[in-house]
Amino acid sequence: VSSPESTQVHQGNTPAESSAPKEVTILFGSQTGNCSGLAQKLSKRLSEQGAQVTVSSMSDFKPNSLKKVQNLLILVSTHGEGEPPDNAISFYEFLHGKRAPQLEGLAYSVLALGDTSYEFYCQTGKDFDKRLEELGGKRLAERVDCDVDFDEPAADWMNAVLKALSEGNGAAATRAQAAGAAQIAAGETEYSRTHPFQAEILENLNLNGRGSDRETRHVEISLEGSGLQYEPGDSLGICPENHPELVDQLMDAMDWNPEETITINKHGDQLALREALLRHYEISVLTKPLLVQAAELSGSEPLKELVGPGREQELKAYMVERDLLDLVQDYRLKGIPAPSFTGILRKLPARLYSIASSSKAYPDEVHVTVRTVRYEAHGRDRYGVCSVQLAERLASGGSLPVYIQHNPNFKLPVNPDTPVIMIGPGTGVAPFRAFLGEREETGAEGKNWLFYGDQHFSTDFLYQTEWQRWLKDGLLTRMDVAFSRDTDQKVYVQHRMLEKSRELYEWLQEGACVYVCGDEKKMAHDVHATLAIILEREGGLSPEAAAEYLLQMQQEKRYQRDVY
Ligand code: 2AM
Repeated sequence: VSSPESTQVHQGNTPAESSAPKEVTILFGSQTGNCSGLAQKLSKRLSEQGAQVTVSSMSDFKPNSLKKVQNLLILVSTHGEGEPPDNAISFYEFLHGKRAPQLEGLAYSVLALGDTSYEFYCQTGKDFDKRLEELGGKRLAERVDCDVDFDEPAADWMNAVLKALSEGNGAAATRAQAAGAAQIAAGETEYSRTHPFQAEILENLNLNGRGSDRETRHVEISLEGSGLQYEPGDSLGICPENHPELVDQLMDAMDWNPEETITINKHGDQLALREALLRHYEISVLTKPLLVQAAELSGSEPLKELVGPGREQELKAYMVERDLLDLVQDYRLKGIPAPSFTGILRKLPARLYSIASSSKAYPDEVHVTVRTVRYEAHGRDRYGVCSVQLAERLASGGSLPVYIQHNPNFKLPVNPDTPVIMIGPGTGVAPFRAFLGEREETGAEGKNWLFYGDQHFSTDFLYQTEWQRWLKDGLLTRMDVAFSRDTDQKVYVQHRMLEKSRELYEWLQEGACVYVCGDEKKMAHDVHATLAIILEREGGLSPEAAAEYLLQMQQEKRYQRDVY
């Protein structure tokens, strides 16, 4: 199945007085859609500048056409332990392999998205940048690495790239650039990541039964009046607030005055300190850059030693499940004034949740499924920022800032007759409620098969009655469930897949699309391995051929994952 929307050619209005239009290829690789969103924005601005732009997901790009590319802009995120996102894997491997062409004459630049709380920060972007240079490419602008709060550095990179590419295009280009900037400013009336919509909570329920170890909130949110639109597979961005108790404890520990106003960004915007700590700064995660700067600010010798040479493992272990309150208490950081301390904090990032509703079934609403994260560590209760806010401090009638994050990497097949296999244990089932809602509303006739699992049948069967209704109606062709803690031996979704391997293989032969949503490290990894086993067992493929088959499926968008 090819996706017509993912490769687009924008032919800009070439200014009459400029020379031939610059040809620019933008390739993005992203798991959550951040890079694809930025790529579209960049493409628009380049076209307005008179360039001829091709923008495409790395997985849709024919590696052999790389030789013909003059200007290449790469936007790529890193995930897991420094790995490329799914839709970047094949291009990444091609470029790092023996068949990669020499690229003298290529001008390029890389925007890398990442997270400084991970060891291999922006690794995939760094790899592309280095490799393109090795192959003979010349940087037209320096690579920019972005932390979770990427909006500003990404905008700086775009400006640098636009400037580099406009040079030589003369006055017309400058005019086009100015017009582009004005349009972007005007576009800010639309709600987005940088300008979220304050949305009302309509319903907020716990889906788990009494006695469950878990709490999972089903939250229905009104989008009325926002103009926001989404499709199944997209995510909802929620801008959360920190736990007020943690904020108060932190201010106490630092002996700060909550009423003090501080400047929160380079535009000079001001907020009361307590408000800023609640809504603007990340205080529940420690990162190495933060500790390094805190060591400098405080002059604390023990902290300097911890971030110094030879103690990497200890530093890593210290940061696990600790927050800013631990840091200031353990290293006695009291005495640092709030304006300088907050100056080294990251901005509190929005949380993304896979949307659990079809907008066709619930116009003007969006639903999400959020597992409450609560645990104890280092002698204190710990709370997931957004999930606990939803569980404890946002009843129906409350409101919170949201935006839609489009995700082109997780979309129902274009053809309504294509069979669909959905694998989503736990909250991973959320987007499949949206998929089935959509297929029901649009009368799509393709078969649907759901694999679901959680701990206990009686308390943890999320949306049980909805699946059962869809089974009865025939919309859901099959459902296989694995309740891991109802039996002595653990059973997981992949065990059910293996039990049904013959039939699953037949569905694949019929062209079924496979979707996996949920935990990445364990579940999605094991499910992937199981798909390979099924191909070997039922299709007689060698392990190498099975791996290749799955890669091919990924490339054809017949195997898509929304994993975290
Ligand atoms: P467990 O908690 O009993 O280990 C949703 O979280 C479900 O996914 C739970 O039933 C959980 O089981 C299960 N799960 C845990 N690890 C898994 C894995 N590697 N593969 C598939 N499912 C897994």
